[in-house]
Amino acid sequence: MKKLSLVLLLLVQFKILLAQEHQQSKNYVAPTDALVQANLHKWQQLKFGLFMHWGPYSQWGVVESWSLCPEDEGWTQRKGPYGADYNAYKKAYENLQTSFNPVKFNPDKWVKAAKEAGMKYVVFTTKHHDGFCMFDTKETDYRITSTKTPYSSNPKSNVTKEIFNAFSKENFMIGAYFSKPDWHSENYWWPYFPPKDRNVNYDPAKYPDKWQKFKDFTYNQIGELMSNYGKVDILWLDGGWVRPKKTINTEVNWQKSITFNQDIDMPRIAAMAREKQPGLIVVDRTVAGPYENYTTPEQQVPNSPLDHPWESCITMGNSWSYVPGDKYKSANEIITLLIKIVSRGGNLLMNIGPGPDGDWDPVAYSRLQQVGSWIKVNGEGIYNSTAVAPYSEGSTYYTKAANSNTIYAFVISAQDAVILPSNITLHLKDIKVKNITLLGVHKKAKWTANDGTINISIPAALQTNNGLTQAAVFKIQY
Ligand code: GLC
Repeated sequence: MKKLSLVLLLLVQFKILLAQEHQQSKNYVAPTDALVQANLHKWQQLKFGLFMHWGPYSQWGVVESWSLCPEDEGWTQRKGPYGADYNAYKKAYENLQTSFNPVKFNPDKWVKAAKEAGMKYVVFTTKHHDGFCMFDTKETDYRITSTKTPYSSNPKSNVTKEIFNAFSKENFMIGAYFSKPDWHSENYWWPYFPPKDRNVNYDPAKYPDKWQKFKDFTYNQIGELMSNYGKVDILWLDGGWVRPKKTINTEVNWQKSITFNQDIDMPRIAAMAREKQPGLIVVDRTVAGPYENYTTPEQQVPNSPLDHPWESCITMGNSWSYVPGDKYKSANEIITLLIKIVSRGGNLLMNIGPGPDGDWDPVAYSRLQQVGSWIKVNGEGIYNSTAVAPYSEGSTYYTKAANSNTIYAFVISAQDAVILPSNITLHLKDIKVKNITLLGVHKKAKWTANDGTINISIPAALQTNNGLTQAAVFKIQY
């Protein structure tokens, strides 16, 4: 009986997994604009990007925005002296603007560290759900460049501009994260009603003028970001509950609570944005359709390759926002994630939350440095690669070079120092192997290949103390 229920449970879980993945792929709509296609193709080769969530909330070391949201969820809990009183809390949270002064902000330092680590693009929170603008908007004074914010007097106060400029100079692709919902705007959370949950707190159909104002505000802000910040490659739109009602997928739990039609007119926004930024990749997260040019599994890695462009966004610590003493993933964990994701054809967008002083936790720098040492030896199997069957077997993962007859086999190590067995067996069908080398080791490997089974023998001297870390990479030319 027990066994039967276990089997049933597994079957149900499997079905759910299939349903999720199926749903992701089924609704993907490939862009038809040739410039967007080209940009997307370029972006897919980059594999590794830097995500940053930053705002005045970093002063409290709390979750970004969510403690303002009157939902009873684990991540919306209010803490501190005002936690017991919602209105006092919101006031104190918004008042963080008046003490935000990240004087150590130096984006060149971030670019250097990210570049060394092998990251090739950046996505920055220009505005999160709380509505605080990390750019110089004319639409509100709830922004970093307002005289209410001490940092406004600093010549680098338009931090979005500074970040985009610094990363552009090193040829990173540039992504603007922008939250469609805005919990500070009186045209989203109208102060006449108390907010009830993450959604707009009035019925846009009943108050169309108010909703129109919100649409225009959003359109104008995105217009500013697309006009005054140099080349922007990706518009990463978060807050998927702001969507036309007809696109709601009630199979997805959090979408069940969306009662109102929250259509902000994506065709108008995208047309304007692409006029200013030809070829712009638009990521209207979870709103499957022509404006979700790639999908964004969050804090997870799909179990198998997806049939469209995708990116896993994953935190280096436990939180998107800066939390003092946060526990950062080890270099081994980060590299394992990167390899898994790339072997399934995706990109890894790894988040680091800058602190209130404007710098990262030193641990983040040290992780990036370790990742960089590995990338320098093994990056040729990561960038410009595509997924190749069988994708993985055990702790071995495969990628294929896009432009040559080369497959890379990544043998992931459970610890920092790589220890290899005397013999490694790989299964790769339909190739006639010509040569196998172990990256980072200047010795030829001995191997035999028979009917899709490749045996590599590792000499004793290479099994330990081989100088390799995190994952050994075999380059297989055919
Ligand atoms: C989650 C968080 C949100 C964050 C996003 C990044 O949805 O709730 O705050 O911006 O992940 O992907």
